[in-house]
Amino acid sequence: MKKGKKLYEGKAKILYAAPDKGTAIQHFKDDATAFNNQKKAIIEGKGILNNRISEHILSSLNHIGIETHLIKRINMREQLIKLVEIIPIEFIIRNIATGSLTKRLGIEEGTILEKPLLEFCYKDDSLGDPLIAREHIYAFNYCDVKTLNFITNQCFRINDFLQGMFKGIGIKLVDFKLEFGRTRKNESGSTTEKILLADEISPDTCRLWDATSEKKLDKDIFRKDLGNLIKGYQEVARRLDILHEQTNIRPIKFTKPIAVKIKKK
Ligand code: TMP
Ligand code: ASP
Repeated sequence: MKKGKKLYEGKAKILYAAPDKGTAIQHFKDDATAFNNQKKAIIEGKGILNNRISEHILSSLNHIGIETHLIKRINMREQLIKLVEIIPIEFIIRNIATGSLTKRLGIEEGTILEKPLLEFCYKDDSLGDPLIAREHIYAFNYCDVKTLNFITNQCFRINDFLQGMFKGIGIKLVDFKLEFGRTRKNESGSTTEKILLADEISPDTCRLWDATSEKKLDKDIFRKDLGNLIKGYQEVARRLDILHEQTNIRPIKFTKPIAVKIKKK
C-alpha cells in the first residue's frame, strides 16, 4: 500500500496518509520512552511486537462489538486504520494499585482494588498528562456528557474482556491506558460521527504481570531497568499464540524415540 505524507509523529508511532479518504497508516517505531520522554531508547523489534499484539487485541474487541479504528494490519510494522480525531483524554483503568496511583495517594503497591478504577488524564506531554476530573472535561469541552458516559461504559467492558483474556494465559491485567477518537464528518456533513477505540493496546500501554511470579511483562521492564523488554513482550505474544511469524524461535528438536525392550513374561 502506498504511503502518503506524514500526518503526525508521536513517541512510539507515526501516522501517514493512506490512499482512501478517511483512512491512515499507523507505523509502530522501536522507540521507547518513559517518564514523559525523559528516558529514551531504541529497542529493536518492539514496534513489530506491539503492531502484532495490538492488532490481535483490537480485532478480539471488534468481535465482541467494540468498534475500533483498526481496519487491518498491512505488514510487520504497519496497520491501516480509520482516521479519527483523538479526544484529548487518556483513560486509565486500574485493577491493582501500582505506578502513579501508589505515589499519588500512598496506596500500598499491589493492593487489589475492590472495583476497577477509571481515571482521566489530560493528554498533553508538555503538562505531563495531568490527572483531571469529569468537571474539567465538561468545563473545557474535551467531550460531552453523552460521549463520556459511552466511553466510560466501553472502558469497563474492555477491562472485563481483557482481564478474562489475560487470565486465561496466566497474566494479571494490572492497569492500562485507552484513547478514543471521533470519526471525521465528510464535507457534506452526512457521515454520522462515531466514537472509536483508537491508538494501541500493547505491553507499552498496559501493565501485565505473570499470574504466579508477578514478573513484569510490560514497559515497566524499561521504566525500571528490570531486564530484557523484548523477552517480556515476546512472552505475552507467545502466550496469546501469535508469535508464529517470528523467525528467531528455536526450531523444535525431535529426538529419536528410545527403543524399549519389553520383557516376555
Ligand atoms: P501510571 O501508573 O504511570 O499512571 O500508568 C497507568 C497505566 O497507563 C500503565 O499501564 C501505563 C499506561 N500509560 C500509558 O500508556 N501512557 C502514559 O503516558 C502513561 C502515563 C501511562
Ligand atoms: N508514555 C509516557 C512517556 O513516553 C509515559 C510512560 O509510558 O511512562 O514518557
